[in-house]
Amino acid sequence: MNNTPELRTLQRPSIILGIESSCDESAAAIYSGESGLLAHALHSQVDLHAEYGGVVPELASRDHIRKLLPLIDHVRAEAGHPALTGIAYTRGPGLMGALLVGASVAAGLGMSLSLPVLGVHHMEGHLLSPLLEENPPAFPYLALLVSGGHTLLVAVDGLGRYRQLGRSVDDAVGEAFDKTAKMLGLGYPGGPAVAALAAQGDPAAHHFPRPMLNRPGLDFSFSGLKTAVMLAIKAGDGSPQAAADIAASFQQAVIDTLVAKCARAIRETGFQRLVVAGGVGANAGLRAALAERAAQDSFALHFPRPEFCTDNAAMIALAGAMRASEFTAGIVGAEAVARWPLEDLAAPV
Ligand code: KG4
Ligand code: ZN
Repeated sequence: MNNTPELRTLQRPSIILGIESSCDESAAAIYSGESGLLAHALHSQVDLHAEYGGVVPELASRDHIRKLLPLIDHVRAEAGHPALTGIAYTRGPGLMGALLVGASVAAGLGMSLSLPVLGVHHMEGHLLSPLLEENPPAFPYLALLVSGGHTLLVAVDGLGRYRQLGRSVDDAVGEAFDKTAKMLGLGYPGGPAVAALAAQGDPAAHHFPRPMLNRPGLDFSFSGLKTAVMLAIKAGDGSPQAAADIAASFQQAVIDTLVAKCARAIRETGFQRLVVAGGVGANAGLRAALAERAAQDSFALHFPRPEFCTDNAAMIALAGAMRASEFTAGIVGAEAVARWPLEDLAAPV
């Protein structure tokens, strides 16, 4: 067998090693174009950052350096040491130092294993993540992307063909969860903590604003909601029940807003499928409310499993496998970009 990088690029089916290091999760995965996901592993830095109340970029980079190579060894062994055909890594957007660790590991491994390398868009990974599941949605679909840094409604016309239909004009919805958690003294990471507390509270205790619902359009705004939460905390008696009621009412306001905007977007685009991705997509209340609305309005609903809603490398390996024709053989630079608009992507040629 000829092992030149050029020929390996042309081998089918692709078996791609994915590397994710854009924020506070180090992750590796192997995806086969023929057999699907072969292995995935993740190390969360939650404990490392918890005492600071948020992600400390320099600590994140150093921890990626410690964790990525062992994670890669682990998934290669778990997958039975398949003959890889390429390495896909998260090129951006994200924390620059953290991204550079993944980019350097990908470039170095590519060089030493004579494998072609591809830098993948993190948000494209999220958008495609429901394709990791059984009964994957066909293109085109509407995607609600709700993470710590983004709140987007995107028309996914095909691979690399993304049109932004709506976005948050201020805080991302994950950020609203994180800030609410901080105000309630729940610490970091906020989303799961607020969701857990909300389960003990009354979602009708406070009627918080459902921002921008009574205006046309598909944009979101969450900063007013944050202020309302702050005022409710100040006015309350500080009891555990008062905190739970605020958490539940906050979560309900977010859910009502997201569900209403998704239903509106489905109506306006005529799309028949909605995909929900990104960390907030792991929220059980949101999943249940969207499922109810999907049944009512007769559209199909697709979620990745909760562990693939939050950051992971399976979605990066998958995006790499879908872009198998674009890998660069030979020596590549460790390239990373902190900002990278989704609409700059193109369909593979
Ligand atoms: O997609 P992700 O893991 O990272 C980014 O790319 O940002 O999303 C992280 C965000 C955080 O803001 C976190 O608080 C939120 O997702 N999150 C949740 C839940 N799990 C994670 N928000 C609400 N409910 C959850 N169960
Ligand atoms: Zn993410």
